[in-house]
Amino acid sequence: MATKKQLQAWFALVAVLVLRVSISIVADAQNYYASAVGDPGMQRDGLRVAFEAWNFCNEVGYEAPGIGSPRAADCFDFSGSIQHKVNESDNELGVGKPFIGLSPEEINNTDLYAVKKELYLGSKCEVADTPRGWQFWMIMLKNGNYDTRSGLCPENGKKVPPFNPGRFPCYRKGCMNQPILCHKQTELLGNSTMRGSFNGTYELNSSCQYEYDDTSFFEVVWEKEVNVGSWVFKHKLKTSKKYPWLMLYLRADATQGFSGGYHYDTRGMLKILPESPNFKVRLSLDVKQGGGPKSQFYLVDIGSCWKNNGAPCDGDVLTDVTRYSEMIINPETPAWCSPTGLGNCPPFHITPDNRKIYRNDTANFPYGAYHYYCAPGNAQYLEQPVSTCDPYSNPQAQEIVQLLPHPIWADYGYPTKQGDGWVGDARTWELDVGRLSSRLYFYQDPGTSPPKRVWTSIDVGTEIFVSNNEVAEWTLSDFDVILKQPNS
Ligand SMILES: *[C@@H]1O[C@H](CO)[C@@H](O)[C@H](O)[C@H]1NC(C)=O
Ligand SMILES: *[C@@H]1O[C@H](CO)[C@@H](O)[C@H](O)[C@H]1NC(C)=O
Ligand SMILES: *[C@@H]1O[C@H](CO)[C@@H](O)[C@H](O)[C@H]1NC(C)=O
Ligand SMILES: *[C@@H]1O[C@H](CO)[C@@H](O)[C@H](O)[C@H]1NC(C)=O
Ligand SMILES: *[C@@H]1O[C@H](CO)[C@@H](O)[C@H](O)[C@H]1NC(C)=O
Ligand SMILES: *[C@@H]1O[C@H](CO)[C@@H](O)[C@H](O)[C@H]1NC(C)=O
Repeated sequence: MATKKQLQAWFALVAVLVLRVSISIVADAQNYYASAVGDPGMQRDGLRVAFEAWNFCNEVGYEAPGIGSPRAADCFDFSGSIQHKVNESDNELGVGKPFIGLSPEEINNTDLYAVKKELYLGSKCEVADTPRGWQFWMIMLKNGNYDTRSGLCPENGKKVPPFNPGRFPCYRKGCMNQPILCHKQTELLGNSTMRGSFNGTYELNSSCQYEYDDTSFFEVVWEKEVNVGSWVFKHKLKTSKKYPWLMLYLRADATQGFSGGYHYDTRGMLKILPESPNFKVRLSLDVKQGGGPKSQFYLVDIGSCWKNNGAPCDGDVLTDVTRYSEMIINPETPAWCSPTGLGNCPPFHITPDNRKIYRNDTANFPYGAYHYYCAPGNAQYLEQPVSTCDPYSNPQAQEIVQLLPHPIWADYGYPTKQGDGWVGDARTWELDVGRLSSRLYFYQDPGTSPPKRVWTSIDVGTEIFVSNNEVAEWTLSDFDVILKQPNS
């Protein structure tokens, strides 16, 4: 008879073998790769997709009348027919309505209610997997209006009193509203195409039935042939005079903990968190309409959170810092970083062969590769000159490194010239996001050890900055996050 110890060792071995077999493994010449997402390449017939809408500081603020809390999901299993896991009464849950897991302090608080609703929808959508279960792709919509008189948004995580308007769009009190949301639950059409959608508008006197002039609109339609290829997510985003700054992304978020830009437990698709430099992102993108000169289309945006001393975030908004890096592919986006605008550049650039080039080295620094760098507003030891990031648009301080297509990114498979990946240049990309992000500058307090760069959100989509009546349209498919395994 086996001793207890032997049995434990045997179970451990079996567990390792099962893990090896169950994660999908693809081999190339030198390395083995495994997917970090629950639905590698969006190929699974049984889709898991959710919706979330955020106000200017990534909260809810006020629910839209009759819509419920701005969290919804469309999740189903497929075996010949669609078996939905979430019904419309779940999706319509809003403050005041109880559900399992909700505490009395949360039931009437719009911000806390949404957080718990996401966890609740996650529990209905979760797919068991190794090393852990996963829940859904997340469609994120954000309204950039900020009513500075509302006192709703903190400044670098600190509560601040209301202040005079001027710096941010807001046509009147109430401009930070959540949208009307319509949901078409996924159906199997007669010809083995499956299709569903979320759409809506921020104009609360309008409806989602038609697109009206001078009215904002957003829509994501997902479609797939049973047993064939990838889901195709067709996105559309339109700004209006009242809602001139909108964002629409499809995100692969962490399945637990803080995902990028958020300070609460979230649900998502990343069953394993990718760490620089050992991962790539693969996806197909077809931009049909750009969204105008101020549409900052992100191929891809990565987000994480760590403190300035390198410690992981713990929910303390005064010291947690959201970190983002994004490649902007709209060719109309200029490089604000320049020899005469050093404050918009990171202090240095690191080449693929690990040479450091300071931004004051005008002969060698690749100014055209950086749109804008901004430092965390709570950093104590910043090198001058510097721009600090907007202090209000996240629940805590943030740091952003924005890249532009440039020959120096060729080594990572990124766009190398203006127009790459843009309208008329649909492609499948395999971006070495891991290696590139391991060489980006992020602020660090002197004398502290740098954090592991572990990313909790990877997304694609556009942020249309203050401009009226612009339309962006694109399709995204084949999304995967591929991990390089240590030589196995
Ligand atoms: C929807 O699901 C909830 C929770 O499982 C259940 O209580 C409710 O009866 C369902 N509603 C409908 C219309 O099926
Ligand atoms: C929530 O609000 C409703 C309606 O205003 C009220 O009746 C209820 O007591 C509140 N619940 C809690 C726990 O505060
Ligand atoms: C299936 O039918 C839908 C609705 O009529 C159509 O949009 C779609 O293109 C069809 N798919 C195929 C593969 O023919
Ligand atoms: C909503 O109100 C605006 C005026 O504020 C008006 O121009 C617009 O036509 C209205 N939309 C609908 C669908 O009634
Ligand atoms: C939005 O989706 C609904 C189905 O939920 C559909 O009836 C409506 O036509 C769509 N709106 C637009 C403008 O396409
Ligand atoms: C360039 O910047 C680096 C780092 O800030 C500094 O050490 C160096 O003295 C600067 N060189 C010149 C010529 O200003």
